[in-house]
Amino acid sequence: MGLFVLVHMIGNLKAYQGPEAYNHYAEWLREIGYPLVPHEGVLWILRLVLGTCLILHVASGIALWSRGRSARGAFRRRNMRARTFGARTMIITGGLILAFIIVHLLDLTIGRLVSPGGFLAATHSDGQMTAYAYENLIASLSRPTMAIFYSLIMLLIGVHLAQGLWSVVNDLGGTGGRLRRICLVIALAVALAIAIGNGMLPLMVLSGVIA
Ligand code: HEM
Repeated sequence: MGLFVLVHMIGNLKAYQGPEAYNHYAEWLREIGYPLVPHEGVLWILRLVLGTCLILHVASGIALWSRGRSARGAFRRRNMRARTFGARTMIITGGLILAFIIVHLLDLTIGRLVSPGGFLAATHSDGQMTAYAYENLIASLSRPTMAIFYSLIMLLIGVHLAQGLWSVVNDLGGTGGRLRRICLVIALAVALAIAIGNGMLPLMVLSGVIA
């Protein structure tokens, strides 16, 4: 999931190159592997894999959080807080990111929330395909509330991802001092790149730099 968000952010940067580059990328996503696989075949495989990962991730996160709570028992020590801000807020940032994913899919994939320009569908009724991902993006992020919502969520994704990637290092048994320092730097750099790379985009649209 972290890799998906990183790749998605790199794809989003194509918005700086203009509509042609962004829409060409969106069309390519739908045509990967064609004619060996049907139109949108690889895209649907990615959707299924990611959807499954998301369900398992949310279920495990809630299970871990509730086991942690019940393990504390009836008489709770109050001064043993999780060390980092990221660790303390995982369940909250996770919940907000989940809400964002639902809004985001309704907004830019299904197209129920884009207004007033209206959502332009990528596949026409005659089966022909022209992607309007760029036009939809501009229509969506030109709304101040939506742009600010997107940018704020990107900050939370940065916090959630930094903590998540660091947990992966611990869970996989990264013990060497030097290795841990390198992994920590990588986790923070990836999280920061996503928070800034994605988070700046709505503000650029809102301020008219990307139009
Ligand atoms: C400022 C940040 C972001 C922008 C501007 C953005 C933009 C977009 C756009 C334009 C699409 C539609 C692409 C197309 O139709 O080809 C899309 C799809 C999607 N985005 Fe984002 N996105 C952002 C952040 C995120 C984040 C952080 C996540 C995950 C947590 C995410 C998850 C998805 C998913 C799952 C899809 C659907 C792909 C599909 O099923 O076709 N996005 N995004």
